[in-house]
This record gives sequence, structure tokens and C-alpha cells, in this order.
Amino acid sequence: MSVYILAIESSCDETSASVCRDGKILSNVIFNQTIHEKYGGVVPELASRAHLQNIVPVVDEALSTANCQLSTVDAFAFTQSPGLIGALLVGTQFAKSLSLAFDKPLIAVHHMQAHVLANLIPDDKPEFPFLCLTVSGGHTQIVLCEDFLKMKVIGQTLDDAAGEAFDKSAKLLGLPYPGGPLIDKYAQSGDPNKFIFPEPQIDGLNFSFSGLKTAILYFIQKNINKNENFIQENLNDICASVQHRIISILLNKLKKAAEQTGIKNICIAGGVSANSGLRRALEEKGKQLGWKTFIPAFEYCTDNAGMIAITAYYKYLAKDFAELSVSPSARAKW
Ligand code: KG4
Ligand code: ZN
Repeated sequence: MSVYILAIESSCDETSASVCRDGKILSNVIFNQTIHEKYGGVVPELASRAHLQNIVPVVDEALSTANCQLSTVDAFAFTQSPGLIGALLVGTQFAKSLSLAFDKPLIAVHHMQAHVLANLIPDDKPEFPFLCLTVSGGHTQIVLCEDFLKMKVIGQTLDDAAGEAFDKSAKLLGLPYPGGPLIDKYAQSGDPNKFIFPEPQIDGLNFSFSGLKTAILYFIQKNINKNENFIQENLNDICASVQHRIISILLNKLKKAAEQTGIKNICIAGGVSANSGLRRALEEKGKQLGWKTFIPAFEYCTDNAGMIAITAYYKYLAKDFAELSVSPSARAKW
């Protein structure tokens, strides 16, 4: 008998639903909330409202694409944490209602663990143990994954996340939110060695990006004082140089983690893993150092319910179900 799971992701500004059968993703519908663009960041109240408006059509489309009826679903999964509390509440209540109405188990999923397990979606999966560099708008972590549901964070950011470093740099350049994909785009025609930004010296496997943000701010202010068109005239080179530094900070720590643990199966995950420069640099580093590298397909990098569904599938096999009294949580323990 096949196991069907319907999963919902609503932790931030994507409303997403996915159906998986026996660990194979049959649909992954993602609605991007564009309403936040003009505010320069996600507005929590608007995100909750947009989730409420979109959740029914998104779930409907996920079911019809997968050719699946609600009555066929064996378990209902949702992102329980971390995220914006109002946004999480929408997905949580929706999944709970379905679980109650159809009398099927409820599965609570940790969003950051799901980003890591997005690497298990394709047929070519990493073997355990593997390391995953999880880089998103709110997190930057090196995760040691020993088994499907056994993971620990061995390095993380002490301040800003890598995605924030991209988005805040973009904001300083006058680009709209989210700026990461735009920096990626302009960087493709720029010189990554044109401007040199500092690499922070942080002990162990932890990261810091706040110094880089300040360095970029001073760099822009200094150059604009000399030439008010400095950004327009150098946008590609600035983007390429900023991106180059963010990638080198990430990959140097990942290399250190691989050396310390002796692990050579290396994955990346999270929204920033959609960055073309990071994807290329990881593959090159992997070839140099003899790593086997894994990079999720684009649709499973940024927030998506496919990664919630795959995590829920392994939780289903482990009979790790949630009570109907479960609550979402803005912050999460591992
Ligand atoms: O994982 P995600 O979709 O949401 C969170 O859980 O935070 O990550 C969103 C982050 C944003 O900071 C966005 O700018 C960044 O991922 N991002 C990128 C790219 N695509 C998304 N950063 C750099 N290059 C990209 N191509
Ligand atoms: Zn995420």
C-alpha cells in the first residue's frame, strides 16, 4: 500500500502545498507573495493575510496535479517552526482541520530540517552521514546529518544570515526585496575581484556577516561622495564582488567542517543555495577536495512544501505523529 502525504508550508512569504507518494514528490505548488516587494522586506501581517487567501487554491492545485483526493491522503503535514507566528498559524490550523476531518495522523515538521532533507528528494541521494550548508533568509548553519531524523547544528551565524547579507547588500544598492536573486543576476556580468571586501575571522565553524554589511555601507558611502553615479556605473562588479565574498565565507567554513568531521558527502540547502555562483563554487570545491556534492533543484531550494512532504514521509515511517493540541512556534529547538 502506498503512503500519500499532503504537506503545507506557510512559515514566511511562500504559500506552498505538496503531495508525495512513498517519498516521491508528485506536486509542489508554490505561490510567491509579491505584495512585500514594495516594503523592502516581509510584512508579517500581510503574509498571514495572503496565506489565508491562497491556501485553499494552492492545496487544491497540489492535489489535482498529483491526481490525488483528500480521502486518499494518509497523513497531513505542516511546518510547525521556525517562522512568522501568524503565517505558521495558517498552515498549522489548516493541516489540523484536515487531520481532524479525515481522521488521519498529523505530522509537525521543522522547517530547517526540511531544508536539509530536500537533498533526499532526487533519486541520487547523499549517503549518511552528510554535511549540509543550510543558507536561507533567516539561517546559516552547517548541519551534520547522521540519519533521516538525526541531525545536529555544528556551526551557525552569530548575527546575520547569508540571505540577509545578500538582501541587505542589495538594499544598500537600491535594489528591491528580496535582493539575493538580483545580486546573482547582475553578478553574472561582473568582475568578482574588482572590489575586495573583508573576510571575518571567526573561531570554529561559526559565521558572521554583520561586518561585511557595514564594510559595504562604508564602501558605498565613500565612493558615492566621489561620484554620485558610482552604483549605476559599477553595479555588476559590486554585485559580483559582494557575492564572491559571501561565497568564500561560506565555503571556507564548509571546508573546515569537512576536514574536522572527515565527511565527504556535502550538500547545500535553503534559498541562497539557488545562487548560481554558490552552486558553481561548491561543485568546483568538491572536485578539488574529492567531495561528493549534492544541490537541490531550484524549486526545492527556496521555501517549498516538497521539502516538508519528504521530511514528513520519514516521520510517517518512524510513526512520529503530532497531537491535535500542537502549536506552531516562531523559534525552534533542534
Ligand atoms: O529559504 P528561503 O526561501 O526562506 C527562508 O527560510 O528564509 O530563503 C530566502 C533567501 C532570501 O534571503 C533570498 O534573497 C535568498 O534566499 N535567495 C538568494 C537567491 N535566491 C534566493 N540569494 C542569492 N542568490 C539567489 N539566487
Ligand atoms: Zn526556508
